Amino acid sequence: MRVAIDGPAGAGKSTVSKAIAAKLGYIYIDTGAMYRTVGYSALKKGIDIKNRHDLMSQLMDNISIDMKITPCGQLMFLDGEDVTSSIRTEAVGMAASDAAVIGEVREKLVRLQREFAEGKNVVMDGRDIGTHVLPDAECKIYLTASVLARGKRRYDELCARGEDCSLENICRDIEVRDENDSSRSISPLRRAEDAVLLDTTDLTLEQSVAAAEKIINEKLKEI
Ligand code: DC
Repeated sequence: MRVAIDGPAGAGKSTVSKAIAAKLGYIYIDTGAMYRTVGYSALKKGIDIKNRHDLMSQLMDNISIDMKITPCGQLMFLDGEDVTSSIRTEAVGMAASDAAVIGEVREKLVRLQREFAEGKNVVMDGRDIGTHVLPDAECKIYLTASVLARGKRRYDELCARGEDCSLENICRDIEVRDENDSSRSISPLRRAEDAVLLDTTDLTLEQSVAAAEKIINEKLKEI
């Protein structure tokens, strides 16, 4: 059984996917972390991601990205170095979104994602899982929420970490990222025709998890 959960940044995909995977005893794979690892590597090397697709293509030929699923979650390794927490910044998120428009980046990461999912029960989240990575997934959910609701969640998260931020800037970044992710020519963010839409704007995280669980249980009954 493969569960594909797609949707824009901040819709609660990772929290919902993690909770669902834990309840079902499935492996959770966060594909955004892979794009973030590429974005982080490019930032570290000072590559102008938007304008130097040639350098990004070279980077993809030489980069080593590894993922380990542990009881504490998914760990990401870049050329052997654990980058799990370094990739969680807004700047890396934006770099990931810029890198994600490049064909060579997507080809390599999609191959890795399919390899990781091969023969396993997985919950995989991203932008193109139901449309491209696992088009035959038994269950597909498209999770979304308004820009303001997503911005507020991110704002609360950053405030709780003691980071200085403004709701206005966060919402603007979300809009830029949405536009980037949904307007790219290769595998843009969009709902697969057979994905169930779950709008979490007015739901708490607990309610979102319960709603996703209900969708999956219905699917399980069908197969
Ligand atoms: O889910 P996230 O915010 O960690 O993802 C970071 C960026 O990676 C996102 O803006 C778009 C890109 N991405 C993608 O293009 N395809 C995926 N399957 C996952 C993420």
